[in-house]
Amino acid sequence: MAKKDNFISEITKAYTFKGDSLILGAPKLNGEVLTDTFIRIPLKTLNRHGLIAGATGTGKTKTLQIIIEQLSAKGIPSLVMDIKGDLSGVAVPGTINPKIEDRHKQIGLPFSASGSPVEFLSLSNDSGARLRATVTEFGPVLFSKILELNETQASVISLVFKYCDDNKLPILDLDDIKKH
Ligand SMILES: Nc1ncnc2c1ncn2[C@@H]1O[C@H](COP(=O)(O)OP(=O)(O)OP(=O)(O)O)[C@@H](O)[C@H]1O
Ligand SMILES: [Mg+2]
Repeated sequence: MAKKDNFISEITKAYTFKGDSLILGAPKLNGEVLTDTFIRIPLKTLNRHGLIAGATGTGKTKTLQIIIEQLSAKGIPSLVMDIKGDLSGVAVPGTINPKIEDRHKQIGLPFSASGSPVEFLSLSNDSGARLRATVTEFGPVLFSKILELNETQASVISLVFKYCDDNKLPILDLDDIKKH
């Protein structure tokens, strides 16, 4: 018991912040989910780089959803690259089932389902508002990566970008890059 109390007080101390924060979940001690003890992430750290790592099915996508949902509730929009199409579910309210209800009780957070306002953007012809990006906006490094260029080709692209930048020549589309 003392060990558990100790654990709870350490976690609470480590995850209490001065400013606003998001709740990521609850810790487990010896396989037991603790109630009313939250793992938080301070809002002011969310403009830094971060890495969510884990084996398949360990909750990386859910964690991302939880972060963007809570940010949205606070009025902070997120731009999310939904490569696998599994993040967009935040647009519709989830449905409750006994397992989820049970888990929420264990964690100490009431379950309330709500959809977040989502705007779909697309770089291709898929559904969603067409987002047009100019070649200049990609930058030479990303552009070379997308085209899977080798080192020599990538350095030529860098030169073209530099030349166009120096001479105020816009590279809007692929025709522009061919011309230059
Ligand atoms: N915090 C959590 N508590 C309980 N169950 C969870 C939690 N996070 C995720 N899960 C469950 O685990 C399943 C897999 O989670 P998720 O899809 O987020 O994993 P992933 O790491 O993104 O997997 P993949 O590598 O396949 O993309 C979810 O459908 C959900 O049921
Ligand atoms: Mg995933």
